[in-house]
Parts: sequence; C-alpha cells; structure tokens
Amino acid sequence: MTTKTLTFGLLLSTLFATSASAQMKIERLAHDNCNIRVAASEQSKYLLLPIEDKAPEANIRVIANNDLQRTINVRLAQNKVDYYVPFLLDEFRGKELVLSATLNIDRSNRGGVGADVRLKDIRLSDTFDSSNKEKFRPAFHHTPEYAWMNDPNGMFYLDGVWHLFYQYNPYGSMWGNMNWGHSTSTDLINWKHEPIALAPDAHGTIFSGSCVVDKDGTAGFGKGAVIALYTSATATPRGDIQFQSLAYSTDGGHTFKKYEGNPILTADIADFRDPNMFWNEDIKAWNLIMSAGQEMRIYSSPNLKDWHEESRFGLNLGCHGGVWECPDLMKLPVEGSKESKWVLIGNINPGFIFGGSATQYFVGDFDGHKFTVDDEARYQNGNALWQDYGKDHYATVSFSNAPDGRHPMIAWMSNWEYANDVPTMQYRSSNSIVRDAYLYKVGKDYFLGSRPAPEYNNAGLDKTVKVKGSCTIKLSNAEGDEAVIIYDQKAMTLTFDRSKCGQTDFSQNFATKTTAPVHRKLTSIRIFIDNSSVEVFGNNGEVVLTNLVFPKSPLTIMK
Ligand code: FRU
Repeated sequence: MTTKTLTFGLLLSTLFATSASAQMKIERLAHDNCNIRVAASEQSKYLLLPIEDKAPEANIRVIANNDLQRTINVRLAQNKVDYYVPFLLDEFRGKELVLSATLNIDRSNRGGVGADVRLKDIRLSDTFDSSNKEKFRPAFHHTPEYAWMNDPNGMFYLDGVWHLFYQYNPYGSMWGNMNWGHSTSTDLINWKHEPIALAPDAHGTIFSGSCVVDKDGTAGFGKGAVIALYTSATATPRGDIQFQSLAYSTDGGHTFKKYEGNPILTADIADFRDPNMFWNEDIKAWNLIMSAGQEMRIYSSPNLKDWHEESRFGLNLGCHGGVWECPDLMKLPVEGSKESKWVLIGNINPGFIFGGSATQYFVGDFDGHKFTVDDEARYQNGNALWQDYGKDHYATVSFSNAPDGRHPMIAWMSNWEYANDVPTMQYRSSNSIVRDAYLYKVGKDYFLGSRPAPEYNNAGLDKTVKVKGSCTIKLSNAEGDEAVIIYDQKAMTLTFDRSKCGQTDFSQNFATKTTAPVHRKLTSIRIFIDNSSVEVFGNNGEVVLTNLVFPKSPLTIMK
C-alpha cells in the first residue's frame, strides 16, 4: 500500500515537472526579439526572470490573449545570472501569455539568433526565494524585500500604523519600471512588506508623490478616504512627459483604486513632478507643492482634484545645480518659543556642495498662496541651507497626519551619483531612520533640525557621546576599516570621513569627507550605526550627517 502510494506520488511529480516546463516555450525571432510563451493552462505562480545588472535593458511587451497589458524593462542576463526576479502569473491565469522581448543586442558581431541571452535560465516556479543574502542589509532601517528602491513616497500615519510607500522596481536592482512599493510599521523600527500599491498603467510609470487622509471626504471618495497624488511619467525619445494622477483608498491605505478622470494636473514643461499636498487650516483648503524644472509651483484646491496655481518659488534663490525634486512645505514650531515658521523643502539633483543629490531648505512664511523667505541674503548667489551634510540623504519628505503635531521625515539613504552601483544586489537602497523636523534659532537665523524620532529612544540602536570641546570619534572593525567623526569647536564644524572605510571603488564619488557647519556648540554626538550606514546627530538633530559605508565587517569598535 505504502509503496504503491509512493510510486504513484513519484510518477505524479515527474509528470508535473515535465508538463510544467512544456507550458513555457521560448521562440527566438528575427532581429533581436524573442517570445516567451506561457500556456493558458499553466498553473505556476511565477515566471522567474534571470537578471544581470550590467546587461542592457530588454524591452518586454506583456501580451495576454493578444492584448497589450503593459511594458516592462528587464536586464535579461546575457553572460551570467546575478539574481532572479519573479514575474507574477496570477492575473494572467487562463490566458495565453506572451512576453515579447526586444533584447537590445547588436547582433551584427555576435552571430546566431538568441545564442547570446540566458533564455534557458528563464523558468516557471511556485516559489520565489526572497530571503536576504546580503551582509550589508541594514537591521533596523527600512529596505525593500528584494530589488530596487528610491524615494520614500506618500507617507502617512493612520490608526497606529505608519505607512511608507516608495519608488520601486520589482524587476531588478537598478532604477526602472517605477511602482509604489508599500511597507507598514507600528514602531518605525520593524517594517512589514505589503503588496505593491500602485503599478504603471497606460498613463505611465508611477513616480513620487504624497498621500493625505481626507477626513471630511472633500474629494468625493468618502470620509476618511486616503488620497494619493503621484506623477504619471513616460519617457519618449523627445523627452519626458509628466503629469499628475490621483488614486484613492477606502481601506485605510492598504489598496488603492486609480481615479477614472486622470490625469488631474498637467503643465507645459518636461520636469513637473512629485506632488506633495497638505490640508492648510489657515485657508481651510488643500495646498499642493510641485517641483517644476528649477522652481516650485504652489496650488490650492477645495477637493484635491481641481487645482488652482497660486504662485511660484525659488528661481533666483538657493542652489540651482540641478533639477528641483520632491518638495515639501510645512509649518514647524521654533524650539523654546511660541513662534512657528514655514519651511520649504527642495531636494535637488545634482548640486550638493559635496556632490550629487541632497536636500536644501528655506525658512519663511506661507499664507496659503505664496511662500516668502525671511532673509533673502541667506539664499543668494547660489548659497543654500542643507538639511543634512552627509552624502546619502535625498528625496526627503514628511509623513502626513502624524500624531501630536509631529512632522517626521524620511530620507532615501543614497545619492544619484552612485545609487545604482552600491555593492548590494539582492536589494538596493535603504531609507534613513525617521527624524522629527523642528526649527531652532541662533541669533536672528532659523535652522532646520532633524531629531531621531522618539520611537528610537531606549531601543538600544544608538550611542551618545558627551562632548566638551573638539574631539575625534573613530568607528572601526577588526579589519582596520575606519569611519571618522571630527568635531572642531574652533572652526565650528562637524566632519564625517569614510574615505578609508571598506569598499569605495565602485564609484569615484564615494570615498568622501563631508563637513557641516555647527551653529551652536555641541554637547553631544548621537550615532546610529547599522550594517552599511552611519547617521550622526550633533546636539540630537541640530547638525546631521547621513552616510553609507561598506566595511568588511560591521563597525563595532568606537574610540
Ligand atoms: C527623485 C526622483 C523624483 C522622481 C523619482 C523617479 O529621486 O527623480 O523626482 O519622481 O525619483 O523615480
């Protein structure tokens, strides 16, 4: 009896294995095309695509029963398989699926049809191994489960849950195919991976944006609906097309439906993106700030759908070394006073004084219509105030609807100079710890402070060094890798030097030393070290340096 069952079981699994592979057929076509066919009867969960990071992007048209479903760009492996990404088959079940891939290979000097791509490594599977294989993956910072991430998007807080969306490429560990990935957390330390929230559609891929909780249902999707505004982006041979689209959620931000009337906001410029909206109690209406080329555009709306342009900001102020991206605008309390001021956040790439991407800010007033800086002289002749003086602090925006009047912010911990080249593959990029934004005043000048969120207090993730004057703190490991923090009280500067800290040769822009101005004498330096990052907070947030490091082993020695 037992033997019979066993034999039968074996037979079944052999049959299944044979039929499973027969369900997929690869047809090599003329020029540089191939079709990957998956039969309608196929039951596997995934098609696993072999990826080589350095291969050119193959352009794949996903066709189900003759209809184009979407287009994706995938670096299909040519010489070696770096890793696999899963293509989910669920939604195509029962349909004849064809992935029509244009491989972008110059065949003239390579010979035979299809010989050059690892098509034999494409396979059907019911499982995908997303377990971590990276020694550099942080332990307490947010990362994607696998593949590429950039900007944090649409962050909001609701009913005890922090929602974090992010720019996500599910088909590789380099930038492309932008979706909104989604994670949630109740403590800002442990993050749960949620299903993709917004996937590309006929309007384009899904670039950065924001979410609000529409308590009064002004947008017409019910009270308490979560509304997302994002950029629909399409790259064309003659430049980018970008406009703004809306999606809404009636289940607290877990799933979104796209609004039928998209797009809802257009403009006649190429770089028009990253909508960031908020309720403005002062004018009892919604405001929206958009990046538009090298300035910001400000809008207002009663219903989150019809936006009226109010004003523009920034053409002659601050740094203009690159495109202005990912704006934010918020009213912040000035520490130790009853005063509040508005702060306009403008991420910029490139243009940072130490190269690449960074976050500049402007302090002033906003009446719901126009933002005016307090003291223009601070931002003239290309001068800028930077929120963080490390190399890896970008696309920084705040959570909406945070409790207790807080304005917690997250930065993407990377820099466009080398984001695609950092030495990890199974995932690429992490986010900073959450920092609560506040203002502090020294003389007549206001500065933006970024204080580690209170959730990290007593979590045992950090070390605080009491400071009485100039000092040097060395972070190292047994292999001799060293990251150095130098506080110079005479020069009033705080420096982070990672030039001798493990792997730096993947980019000539990585081995750096950056220096921040210190506006008030430091009494403490608080340090968060994770496997591949060091975040340094002078006076618990008055001066901050956020940097990636890739040491041979974690930096466990502090002297
Ligand atoms: C910033 C950015 C945004 C854009 C997104 C695309 O890093 O360039 O301006 O929306 O990334 O992924």
